[in-house]
Amino acid sequence: MKLKLSSILLLFLVLSCNDHQYVQGEALYQAYCSSCHMADGTGLKNVYPSIIYSATLKSGNFNLPCAIRYGHQKREVQIGAAMEGYPKLSDVEISNITNFIYYDFLEQKPMSFTKIKKDLTACSAGK
Ligand code: HEC
Repeated sequence: MKLKLSSILLLFLVLSCNDHQYVQGEALYQAYCSSCHMADGTGLKNVYPSIIYSATLKSGNFNLPCAIRYGHQKREVQIGAAMEGYPKLSDVEISNITNFIYYDFLEQKPMSFTKIKKDLTACSAGK
């Protein structure tokens, strides 16, 4: 019993130390993106671009919600596996991944859900 109580306490401490705001976004990132872009977003040199150091993302001109839903291909020759989209993820799930990346990785302001919906509408028409 004593052991059980202390492990519960430990679990509580671990959870309360986690100050990440986008918990679902982080879990989804780890499930869908980390296999290529790595758990800490650093990528794999010359194969998968880094997310945390991405100038493209930081520029603010990259439609991340669309890249998550429909995939992203810019280079003519893929060195690693190309980035496929995740059409089954809902708007809310995509919003949480997007904001986990902007807030936790890039330390930028989170994006409003209205803006994310607008971005998603833009690419659903074009694709
Ligand atoms: C199978 C490997 C793979 C997975 C899984 C993957 N990506 Fe990618 N990602 C790539 C590759 C390869 C590129 C480069 C595409 C290109 O430029 O042609 C890329 C590019 C990107 C870029 C653009 C970075 C830049 O600076 O150009 C972002 C942002 C990104 N991915 C986010 C994500 C997110 C978010 C997820 C999860 C929802 C994800 N990726 C899942 C392989 C992957």
